[in-house]
Amino acid sequence: MATLDALLPRQVQARVREEAGTWLVTGAAGFIGSNLVEALLGLGQRVVGLDNFATGYQRNLDEVERLVGAEAWSRFRFIRADIRELADCQDACAGVRHVLHQAALGSVPRSIENPLATHAANATGFLNMLVAARDAGVGSFTYAASSSTYGDEPSLPKVEDVIGRPLSPYAATKLFDELYAEVFARCYGFRAIGLRYFNVFGRRQDPQGAYAAVIPQWIATMIRDGEVHINGDGETTRDFCHVANAVQANLLAAMAAEEHRDRVYNIAVSQRTSLNRLFEALVAQLAAEGVRYGKPPAYRDFRAGDVRHSLADISRAASRLGYAPTHTLPEGLREAMPWYLQFIAQQAACHAG
Ligand SMILES: NC(=O)c1ccc[n+]([C@@H]2O[C@H](COP(=O)([O-])OP(=O)(O)OC[C@H]3O[C@@H](n4cnc5c(N)ncnc54)[C@H](O)[C@@H]3O)[C@@H](O)[C@H]2O)c1
Repeated sequence: MATLDALLPRQVQARVREEAGTWLVTGAAGFIGSNLVEALLGLGQRVVGLDNFATGYQRNLDEVERLVGAEAWSRFRFIRADIRELADCQDACAGVRHVLHQAALGSVPRSIENPLATHAANATGFLNMLVAARDAGVGSFTYAASSSTYGDEPSLPKVEDVIGRPLSPYAATKLFDELYAEVFARCYGFRAIGLRYFNVFGRRQDPQGAYAAVIPQWIATMIRDGEVHINGDGETTRDFCHVANAVQANLLAAMAAEEHRDRVYNIAVSQRTSLNRLFEALVAQLAAEGVRYGKPPAYRDFRAGDVRHSLADISRAASRLGYAPTHTLPEGLREAMPWYLQFIAQQAACHAG
């Protein structure tokens, strides 16, 4: 399997290779964070990773180590720490040039069940990271925002300056983060860039547990020949974004010119796919890998807090950051599927053993 950096546009690879200084990736043992670590190490960078393993895994870091090799791995330092503790954030930010802040508790349903836990990581933890990064005088601060911030705003495509009211505690914390980032620019001249991700998917996204995202959850169910559940009528739409696109956006944001900081950017592909079409695309991609899935999906109620339609206008990220997604949904599924087949087979072998 190629390392993630090989999936990035050549000019982005070249620019990152020339960067000097250390990168801090929070949420490094998670899905997007571990892909960022993999890309940065592959591009010759020095990286500090922070995680408390709330939803991340040591196995993700082990896989990155295997993929990048010993020399690259020697440029990585891991800190097991918690962003809810200011002192942990301060330790992690010391001597760092670029911060890519990914650590948070994802999932709308999780936040509806436990708003305090989501708030502590996503809001208090975020503010701790802003304070620590400001005080450490880092050169750039890029953070994971979310398309959930569009809330009940019906217009499509979503443009950054037109948002509605949040529909979940998770969305409220992500809006809170954007407001604090804005206030830090105004009060302290500390300029952060927020990347509003739209349904990111790819290798190492966790397929397990009640809060798994739709693509890994359905792939795992299909490989095990289980029954796929669709919330609602299946005509809910999403702008699915492969993780290589999200990694590209983070690297470009960290290196962006000063006048393009202090902003939020939509990060997606700008293509809308219904859940019904996604189901068909997954069945087709599995078939291409030699796995036949023949069961129809089972429909159930719409899920509380979910946005009905999602489609990003990505022109701001394109014009100001130079963002150009490399992977559409079919291309991303082609890239990710072999990883899932291998992962599920390994899990099955572990359980059998
Ligand atoms: N995946 C998506 O589609 C998507 C969409 C929008 C926004 N986001 C945001 O992107 C970021 C990364 O998401 P992901 O999909 O990689 O999720 P993930 O759960 O795989 O990664 C999050 C990581 O943060 C760590 N973490 C959580 N709380 C922490 C704490 N208190 N201290 C230290 N580490 C902590 C977790 O252990 C995990 O490794 C999150 O901020 C998420 O809200 C993701």
